[in-house]
Amino acid sequence: MALNIIAGRFAGRASLLRPMSTWANVQMGPPDAILGVTEAFKKDTSPQKINLGVGAYRDDAGKPYVLPSVKEAEKRIASRGLDKEYLPITGLASFTSAAINLAYGEGSSAIRDNRVAVTQSISGTGALRIGGAFLQKWYPGTKKIYLPTPSWGNHGAVFRDSGIEVGSYRYFDRNTNGLDLAGMLEDIKALPKGSIVLLHACAHNPTGVDPTPEQWVQIQKVCEEKEHFIFFDMAYQGFASGNADNDAQALRNFVASGQPVVLSQSFAKNMGLYGERVGSFSVVCADGAEKDRIASQIKIIVRPMYSNPPVSGARIASEVLNTPDLRKQWLDEVKGMADRIISMRTMLKGHLVDDFGSKVGWDHITNQIGMFCFTGLKPEQVHRLKNEFHVYLTNDGRVSMAGVSSDNVKYLAQSIHEVTK
Ligand SMILES: Cc1ncc(COP(=O)(O)O)c(C=O)c1O
Repeated sequence: MALNIIAGRFAGRASLLRPMSTWANVQMGPPDAILGVTEAFKKDTSPQKINLGVGAYRDDAGKPYVLPSVKEAEKRIASRGLDKEYLPITGLASFTSAAINLAYGEGSSAIRDNRVAVTQSISGTGALRIGGAFLQKWYPGTKKIYLPTPSWGNHGAVFRDSGIEVGSYRYFDRNTNGLDLAGMLEDIKALPKGSIVLLHACAHNPTGVDPTPEQWVQIQKVCEEKEHFIFFDMAYQGFASGNADNDAQALRNFVASGQPVVLSQSFAKNMGLYGERVGSFSVVCADGAEKDRIASQIKIIVRPMYSNPPVSGARIASEVLNTPDLRKQWLDEVKGMADRIISMRTMLKGHLVDDFGSKVGWDHITNQIGMFCFTGLKPEQVHRLKNEFHVYLTNDGRVSMAGVSSDNVKYLAQSIHEVTK
């Protein structure tokens, strides 16, 4: 009101004095750390430049990859001449049911008992956001979620914007570039009973460090003892090991033991549907009646956020997941992506150790899994990589292995060796 009065007063003599803008109080926000890497990369004219910042798969020629199974699904869908009517609030049912089957497993008792409430979401981010809003409204305990340190850069903002507090537990050990299991267990044990704990189901971003099956057993035991509530974020199913069932094993073990969990799923990476924004949020409930109540409340959360989700990507994912020949082809293609990344890890370590004789110790490159490698490089080394070698990554030393190819892996190893020797 006051601003309008000031603006009005100045309006008559605009040529003399500019009115104060309504938005004069808006400050410049900080640039996005990851997008900033790509911006700097684009400006570099060196033919040797490498972008290791993007969290999207690239083929061995460094190009974005549209999965052939996805192309074929699109062709089949186009031939049906479907309309573009609104989806229901919770999305395309053939997609959401296939998504939870993929996550929880065909033999899941939760699905068999019809006690999984699910909604389509705007990819993984949207699933986390719906989940945050759901917990904010309905979680009976303290509305605070504990994230691993470090976690995906957007987690904190998503949950804070959902109105819940954000805490942390130890996860990554900078000395070993591996899991700080003792610290993690100690912190999770020390949380108040019934805390909400976020676990990356597989291919932890940004570290690439996943617990082993034995370590998962210990984590699950502590969570059960403390009656913690688990929010699983599964943005890379299939992408970690190349096998979608293996990658979902931790989630399935928690569910099988009767732990109450919620889950966000993304089909951005494993189906290459980044810009289509395909995901789902689900809640494993005690029984069918509870599921119906929760599903009704999820609708009430989604409706004022965006009414209903987009249709195209969900149709593609549904076609791929529900058509046996396409599903098989897709699973092979996911394995192909995972295998290429695994082979780049092996080659990078091989060049560093065998060709350049690096003594730093690089086992973590091959021990880590999924799209990202937390190299242990210090900010000043990252700075040198950029300025002297045209190699671009985030300051925390995170490398997107998807940006590594047979053509650039040796040069990358040499550059890393130069800044770490
Ligand atoms: C751990 C994790 N969760 C969620 C997401 C969300 O991705 P999207 O919204 O593109 O599905 C990402 C993407 O990088 C991620 O790494």
